Amino acid sequence: MFNPNDIREQFPILDSKVYGRPLIYLDNAATTQKPRCVIDAISEAYCTINANVHRGVHHLSQVATERFEEARRTVRRFINAPDSRQIIFTRGTTESINLIASSFGDTFLKEGDQVIISTMEHHSNIVPWQLLRERIGIEIKIIPLKADATLDVEAYKELFTERTRLVSLTHVSNVLGCTNPVKECIDIAHSHGVPILIDGAQSTPHIKVDVQALDADFFVFSGHKMYGPTGIGVLYGKEQWLEQMQPYHGGGEMIQTVKFEKTTFNELPYKFEAGTPDYIGAIALGKAIEFIEHVGIENIAAHEHSLTQYALERLSEVDNMRIIGCPDGSAVSLLVGDIHPADLGTLLDRLGIAIRTGHHCAQPLIDHLGIPGTVRASFALYNTKDEVDILVEGIKRVARMFA
Ligand code: ALA
Repeated sequence: MFNPNDIREQFPILDSKVYGRPLIYLDNAATTQKPRCVIDAISEAYCTINANVHRGVHHLSQVATERFEEARRTVRRFINAPDSRQIIFTRGTTESINLIASSFGDTFLKEGDQVIISTMEHHSNIVPWQLLRERIGIEIKIIPLKADATLDVEAYKELFTERTRLVSLTHVSNVLGCTNPVKECIDIAHSHGVPILIDGAQSTPHIKVDVQALDADFFVFSGHKMYGPTGIGVLYGKEQWLEQMQPYHGGGEMIQTVKFEKTTFNELPYKFEAGTPDYIGAIALGKAIEFIEHVGIENIAAHEHSLTQYALERLSEVDNMRIIGCPDGSAVSLLVGDIHPADLGTLLDRLGIAIRTGHHCAQPLIDHLGIPGTVRASFALYNTKDEVDILVEGIKRVARMFA
């Protein structure tokens, strides 16, 4: 195990003060802070190797291209994908899911075909399917939750029909903080001959992901939630799907030949990377992955798990406190009495504590739970038990004000 206090020194922003108080940053499910090595990697790349990739015969372009492709290999290693050709750089989880909805949808889906998602999905795993529904008339089927707000796997099994073409499911809920039994869900989908997309936005920063062991058909995640920069993310897919899928965006790099009459497309992964990619972002994401690998994802998981357990224990001291869902990872959602989450969040902010409040981009889930939203504390490898204590004391203080 590592010492989070040593790790903190590598994150310049954690020294900040908010309203004269030390920053307590507990909004890591929204975005993580960046270590010095990632910040420096961006600056170093712009200062020393910046040139457009895959386009130049000149030295700088070749060096930039090699660094970009090295980042792709680092991502491949991180999720144990079989081949770097299966790693497509996108702007993030949202763009990755939109790409699949659009390209897989255009290639394989017809009116009346069905896509299964769950009640606990983020808007980014709901709206792309609704857009597809408007465009070609697919049906969206929803996996319900059990009374404890965990996924109802038995009900999921019943949703499959001969028209089911794809399942799209979150690995870890950004609201409930629970880890779904995705391996079981993948095996169930495959037993029906149906491919499955796993949204790993909230899992890759926290737990070991092995796409081959999972046997996921698609796996998507964002760089900025795992100590990397904003604007860069990943789509992993099995070649059997990616090879057949229509391109998403048209433009430079995704083509092989262009004539006014007809265009042929580039090989994987470039077929899905139209335009100048965020190669600096990809290089910095590679650095973030090296940072995670250096600390050890198992150490990160163990530390965050112990923080969550400690938070649940300490939060139980707060009168009228209700945990929403069954958190088992690194995020805890709660409500206190009838204090509105926005009020609790605003007053905690005055104490220097950054947490997220509201519907967390999962309005159907919040409606299903019949609550106005939640207050969510989400942990990263640099958070400490002292910070959990400050959070709990802050919540108690706000609760006293409202009593
Ligand atoms: N999806 C991110 C969150 O849960 C933004 O906060």
